[in-house]
Amino acid sequence: MTPGLAALISPHAPADLAAHLSRDEAFVAHGCEDALAVLGALPLLGSREAVLAGWPALVSVHLPDLADEASSIEVTPAIARKLFANGMGLLFDDAHAHVAALVPWLAALRVELGLAALTQPRCLVYATPAGGGTAAHFDQNVNFVLQLHGTKTWWLAPNAHVVHPLTRHTMGTPTDGELATYARQPLPEAMPPERREVVLAPGSVLVVPRGMWHATRAETDSLQLNFTFTAPAWLDLLTAALRSKLALSAAWRETAAPHAPARFEALLRALAEDAATWRAEDLLAATEG
Ligand SMILES: [Fe+2]
Repeated sequence: MTPGLAALISPHAPADLAAHLSRDEAFVAHGCEDALAVLGALPLLGSREAVLAGWPALVSVHLPDLADEASSIEVTPAIARKLFANGMGLLFDDAHAHVAALVPWLAALRVELGLAALTQPRCLVYATPAGGGTAAHFDQNVNFVLQLHGTKTWWLAPNAHVVHPLTRHTMGTPTDGELATYARQPLPEAMPPERREVVLAPGSVLVVPRGMWHATRAETDSLQLNFTFTAPAWLDLLTAALRSKLALSAAWRETAAPHAPARFEALLRALAEDAATWRAEDLLAATEG
């Protein structure tokens, strides 16, 4: 099986997924048994017990006060097993670092989604006990959810408070300082009433757009594999390219002296003049390699 969108969501069409994402809508595909059988047969991914028995790193446990990564601890797999039995959800982070066969999937999906080379792709495995789930939140990444075992209900709602968030936010937690500068306040404390309900069963794939509110509850013990892509915004590409450009200049590398801003002012004026000649393709050559 060649890793990629077509294989992942077969028998559904990648063009259908692309159309949903272009409208900032979630995409749900059931019956993607072929790809999920292949991925579910990889080392560590066969069952909750397989990942607990073979996981070579610490496991993140979501504590019952919030049921979110905003309130979590890192423990050994042996302790994680006990906490799961006591109703807590487990996150096995950076699974692609331990399951090499996931890496080509991340690479292919990143390219097919048209995301920049500076994108941070990650695989995560979530083990959630029946009745557990995640608190309502949105993420700064686009998230592919692959339901390997068990059944999980998702609630999804458009985000009327912030467009293109640069960070995640969980309802009921303090708002990130930068997020507060561009989000419409106050952020909601409960899922918006226009939420949609989706039930994922083994073989289901859900793609959650960046910024969409979501909350979950496992109906049975659940094992889920995620492909997430934290992609740079235009501002990230400009910042990265600008830094590599300015680093070539001895004047810009000078130690900043805020009490004498005339020097800074002169540098800014010269930069503004230079920037008028910049072309997007030149900056992209710096960031896309
Ligand atoms: Fe999320």
